[in-house]
Amino acid sequence: MSLEIAIIAWIHLISASIWVGGSIFIGIVFVPVLKTMTTSMEERLQIMIKVGKRFNKIAVPSLIILIITGVYNSHQFLSKPELLLSSSYGNFLIIKIILVIALIIVFTVHIRIIRKDIEEKILSKEMPENQIQKLRKKIIILGEATVVISIAILFMAALLDTGI
Ligand code: HEM
Repeated sequence: MSLEIAIIAWIHLISASIWVGGSIFIGIVFVPVLKTMTTSMEERLQIMIKVGKRFNKIAVPSLIILIITGVYNSHQFLSKPELLLSSSYGNFLIIKIILVIALIIVFTVHIRIIRKDIEEKILSKEMPENQIQKLRKKIIILGEATVVISIAILFMAALLDTGI
């Protein structure tokens, strides 16, 4: 039924908007504003952790829904390995899936850096400045990688859409 396909595509799009739009908002709007609000790096990191945790409450379910609806969208294709390899649509789908796997790995490392014990150390101001600096650099690089991979996934979605 085509209405069912449209609804699944709609849910896929809403989740993609939340996931990609939210990450870009944090990087382009929130982080620069936060920089003007306090010069203390420790305080900024604390606020960022809180914002990240709050965003994850909607971002993680969105990513899970993207995977479920994405697999549903493509299940007929995925069950035909010869089509996956011989058509450009299939090739784009394979690249998209590889990028999604890379995204999951990078995102998991990104959020696991801020384990409970590390978060408590930062919040109780027990962490030395140089350690905070290092941690911050890692978090920023992995956060940027998450956004870049997500945008690359959108390009694969656009290529799938054109049916080249
Ligand atoms: C971060 C994860 C993902 C993002 C941001 C994303 C984003 C998008 C967007 C924006 C579209 C275009 C909407 C449309 O034309 O229907 C789309 C379509 C699609 N996505 Fe995803 N997607 C993700 C994950 C997945 C996964 C894991 C799969 C499959 C295993 C998948 C399979 C598809 C398929 C088959 C389409 C329809 C393309 C077409 O034939 O028009 N997506 N995706």
